[in-house]
Formats: sequence, structure tokens, C-alpha cells
Amino acid sequence: MSSNSLLTTQRVFIDLGERSYPITIGAGLLGDPGTYLNLPSASTALIVSNDTVAPLYAQSLQLALQGHYKKVLQVILPDGEAHKDWPTLQLIFDALLANGCDRKTVLFALGGGVVGDMTGFAAACYMRGVPFVQVPTTLLAQVDSSVGGKTAINHPLGKNMVGAFYQPERVICDLDVLQTLPPRELSAGLAEIIKYGPIADMAFLDWIETNIGALLAREPAALAHAVRRSCEIKAAVVGQDEREAGLRAILNFGHTFGHAIESGLGYGQWLHGEGVGCGMVMAARLSQRLGLVDVAFVDRLHALVQRAGLPVVGPRLSDTDNAGRYLELMRVDKKAEAGEIRFVVINGPGHATVRSAPDALVREVIDASCG
Ligand code: NAD
Ligand code: GLY
Repeated sequence: MSSNSLLTTQRVFIDLGERSYPITIGAGLLGDPGTYLNLPSASTALIVSNDTVAPLYAQSLQLALQGHYKKVLQVILPDGEAHKDWPTLQLIFDALLANGCDRKTVLFALGGGVVGDMTGFAAACYMRGVPFVQVPTTLLAQVDSSVGGKTAINHPLGKNMVGAFYQPERVICDLDVLQTLPPRELSAGLAEIIKYGPIADMAFLDWIETNIGALLAREPAALAHAVRRSCEIKAAVVGQDEREAGLRAILNFGHTFGHAIESGLGYGQWLHGEGVGCGMVMAARLSQRLGLVDVAFVDRLHALVQRAGLPVVGPRLSDTDNAGRYLELMRVDKKAEAGEIRFVVINGPGHATVRSAPDALVREVIDASCG
């Protein structure tokens, strides 16, 4: 019996017309064949996982899928952000082609955001598009990356620079799997949960502040609420702006600084959520210097990010011109326009907007934020 078996299963719908789908959140879902009813019919399923997650959960998923598909195949990728690249993506296509998989084959992404983003991209490309299901196993993937259809791999010159918008058929958030997550990864997921407060829902930020201990202790009811509320906010934003013509960019609060940290240090040195946590503090400081929020707001976010076990001091990316290196890296960002960096800033608590800022001001923020 699952340790969370008293939790009721909850559903959040993401409304995208013919591409709409449910996010199911609960306990004991991953290994339950009932979870996978009414998916597109196919003879073959391919589970895509990695060499950390597969030993923990692939067998359970395999057994649950066997009643639905004649063949259930697996491809196991090397673990890590450093493998979110072309050669690793190719392993998925190799498995699909070597096994004669047709265009109805359903892919199942079993893992964190790295596996989810790569499986989604492979599904978007294979035979010009096959269905896929997200089975996120990290907190970060359950509250963010598995929802909304952004798929990608990294390029050495920029994070998530090669990819596609491609929606899954379904997202299955089994809260039980969060119990095996390393503590550092739990904190990384908390960064993306905290993000939703300043950009959209200050009452949720209050709730996170009150419940941060319960979240760090992985109390099932706290995790269930955090995952559900995060998915609701993300679904509402993506439902209005699926392909990031405007509004969706607010979901990147903290990411412009964070992506610079990730790529500047080399992918995998800082976790994505760690970059986002520290990046949110930097973006809040920028908002304050632009006169959009007060110092108390910055201090509040700084304290919460720190309590979540996340770094709040940025790493130095250059011994000679640290701020210049950040600026150089931040110009390679999907929000940049004509070489001008655009930041998600907080325009009063609970509201975010995207705008540029003078380099001199950004330099001040970086100097004030780095060790
Ligand atoms: P990750 O996928 O690297 O997973 C973190 C680590 O935890 C890995 O070592 C993984 O093998 C391990 N792991 C996963 N589940 C586990 C479990 N249940 N028990 C034990 N270990 C487990 O990292 P992540 O934080 O999940 O995702 C980060 C990635 O997501 C980044 O590449 C980021 O760019 C991407 N992302 C995408 C979106 C999007 O909208 N598509 C949004 C946010 C982040
Ligand atoms: N994680 C940002 C987005 O999905 O738009």
C-alpha cells in the first residue's frame, strides 16, 4: 500500500482545444493499470527513462502498461543535464527504429525534466509526431516541466535552444515517487513552486511560507496541495498563451539569470532549480532597483528561497568581468530581442511583466548578488 494512500486523486485540466489534457495528481498512480486507460490505441509503447530512475520505477510502469500494449519497450538514457543533447536524443530514435515502431507508438517519459523534455522532443519529431505521456518523477517536473508542452535539448551555446512546442496526452503526478528524491532535488523543485507566488498568487506564497517545513519533510498533504496549485496556475497561463506570444514568459521568472548560471558553470554544476532560486532573488533585486517592488519584498523572497535549501548568492562566472560574462550569457535567451535582454520582473507583488533594463543597473544587481 502506498504511504500516501489516504490522499484522494485530483485532476487539473489544461484547456488547449483539441490538445487539452488532464494532469492527474495522487498516490499509487504509476503502477496502477487504470491510470493508463483511454490513451490513443497502439500496439507498442516505449518507456524512456534514465539509469537512476529506471531501476526504481520502470518495472512497475512496464507491468501497468502490459495490459494495454502488445509490446512495451524501454530505452534507458544516461542520467543528467549534461546528457540533454543530440547524441542522447538519438538513442531514443535508435530504439524506435531498431524495434520497427510505427507512428502510433506511444512514448512514456519516466523521469525528471531532462527525460521529459527529451522524450517530448523525440515524440514531436519521430515520424513527424507520435503521442506521448508524461510520468514526472521529480517535484520540479510535476509542478512545471511536464505541463505545457515545452520540449527541448540544450546547445553548448544556450539552454533549451533546440526544441518544439508539443503537448502530451496526459500527465501523471504520482506523489509517492517523491519520497526517493535526493534532498537537493527536492529543493530544486521548491524553487519552481515558489516562483508561482510572486508572479501570480501571493496567497500561495503565504501558504508556502507557512508550509515550507512540511514540504521539506515531504508530508503528502502538503506536497499534494503544492503540486495541484502549481499545476492550476501553470495550466491557466499556458491555456491563455500556449506558444509564449506574451503572457507565458512570466513563467520564466528567475530563469534569465538562472540559465546564465547553468550554462556559465557548465550544465549539471548547479541544478536548474538552484539557478532559478538564486535567479529569482536577482530578478527581485532588479525589480526593486526599477522601482517596482520594495526592499521588504526582496528580503521576503530571499528568506524563503534560503529556507527552501536553495543558493541565494550567485557564482562568479569570470575572474575578470563577472557581470560582463553574465550579460554575455543572458543575451543568448529566447526572450532576447535584437540582442536586447528582456527580464521577467515583479511589477508589484503577484504580478509579473517582461521588460529590458539598462546594462548598468543589471551590472549593479549582479555585483550585489555574487560571491
Ligand atoms: P532531472 O531530470 O535531471 O532530475 C533530477 C535528478 O533526480 C536526476 O538525477 C534524476 O535521475 C533523479 N530522479 C528523478 N526522479 C527521481 C526519483 N523519484 N527518485 C530518485 N531520483 C530521481 O532534473 P529536473 O529538476 O527534474 O528537471 C530539470 C530540467 O527540466 C532542466 O533541463 C530544465 O531545463 C527542464 N525544465 C523544463 C521545463 C519545461 O517547461 N519544459 C520547465 C522547467 C524545467
Ligand atoms: N517553464 C516555463 C514554461 O513552461 O513556460
